[in-house]
Amino acid sequence: MIKDLNEVSRPAVADRFDRPLKDLRISVTDRCNFRCGYCMPKDVFGKNYSFLSSSQLLKYADIVRLVRVFARLGVRKIRLTGGEPLLRKDLEDLIRNIAGVQGIVDIALTTNASLLSPQRAVSLHEAGVHRLNISLDALTPEIYEKINQVPVPLEDILDGIENALEVPYQAVKINMVVQKGVNECDILPMCERFRGTGAILRFIEFMDVGNHNRWNLDKVFTAREMVDVIHPVYPIEPIKANYRGEVSKRWKYLDGQGEVGIISSITKPFCGDCARARLSAKGEVYTCLFASAGYDLRPLLDSQLDDAEILGKLHHLWQGRKDRYSMDRLSHGDSETRGRTSQKVEMSYIGG
Ligand code: GTP
Ligand code: 5AD
Ligand code: SF4
Ligand code: SF4
Repeated sequence: MIKDLNEVSRPAVADRFDRPLKDLRISVTDRCNFRCGYCMPKDVFGKNYSFLSSSQLLKYADIVRLVRVFARLGVRKIRLTGGEPLLRKDLEDLIRNIAGVQGIVDIALTTNASLLSPQRAVSLHEAGVHRLNISLDALTPEIYEKINQVPVPLEDILDGIENALEVPYQAVKINMVVQKGVNECDILPMCERFRGTGAILRFIEFMDVGNHNRWNLDKVFTAREMVDVIHPVYPIEPIKANYRGEVSKRWKYLDGQGEVGIISSITKPFCGDCARARLSAKGEVYTCLFASAGYDLRPLLDSQLDDAEILGKLHHLWQGRKDRYSMDRLSHGDSETRGRTSQKVEMSYIGG
């Protein structure tokens, strides 16, 4: 159980649907050394793609300043993402400074683990990371290669996961995005591999994030279908959420070999409890993963505004928030059309 995340005191700010602001997910780079088809397909994110230059990236000092302001608005959890966050230089310096911010009780990091050496797994933990989420979509080398589109051997990722498990993180989770006809055949091998290891495997419905991943409803392997694959072989039963608004529905293996999680963003959206804001690598705040525009904080950071004034602007932004994209998509019932027509921010730009 993550401490302090179930606070019942009045939130510092609530949005139009009375949702507080509790989590901040910070993308520290838009670059990645992988080209997962569902996130950064190679034909779009090719050699000529213009990523942010290092001078466009939000500086660490500015990120920490913003974390301080967000903490005053109620943020308790920070997740560092990318792109691939381990590509950003001296990440541990940023983590140490975030860990020192009053109010922040949980720091997590999402990575593809390709750069997670034993030393790195230790230094991230020592700097202040409590929890690691690692993306891995297949154990069959051909499927893994087809999805990730890079020459990084599968063994490197498995080693990265081992390295993480050697360190006393509060949790190590493995994220598998399941795409129909692509990798559902690896669901059971993934269960087999990670049962009893202490890692928590999570199966994620393929989502219509960004504009380029050729999403359509037929490619979604649903949460129900996932349970139907797992349960007959490894019986599971639902268990209580760790905290209100937890995205992943928890299931435990009946034979005591740990738990798995299922994230049903398409078939059972969780916007009702969404307390997440996202900060892009260049300093825009997004109040939804599916937003088409962010609120640019750089002019505020570059001007002489003090923290209280920035806090006021963010307070106003959150108070006006009406986002519930996934729930609207479900209720409109025309998900394919909506997914194609609205211009959305890319997931690699604001993290998962
Ligand atoms: P913890 O409970 O802190 O471990 O976080 P988490 O379960 O949100 O983990 P993670 O950040 O790894 O998210 C897992 C996946 O859930 C993401 O990669 C997305 O696919 C999906 N997800 C997370 N947050 C949102 C959200 O706000 N909206 C939608 N639609 N999907 C989300
Ligand atoms: N659908 C679902 N999850 C996605 N991620 C990225 N793109 C998608 C998508 N289209 C998530 C994966 C990955 C994390 C970095 O982002 O969980 O592990
Ligand atoms: Fe990189 Fe993660 Fe996106 Fe894959 S899902 S391209 S590893 S940021
Ligand atoms: Fe939150 Fe938007 Fe995801 Fe709904 S779709 S859970 S509002 S980020």
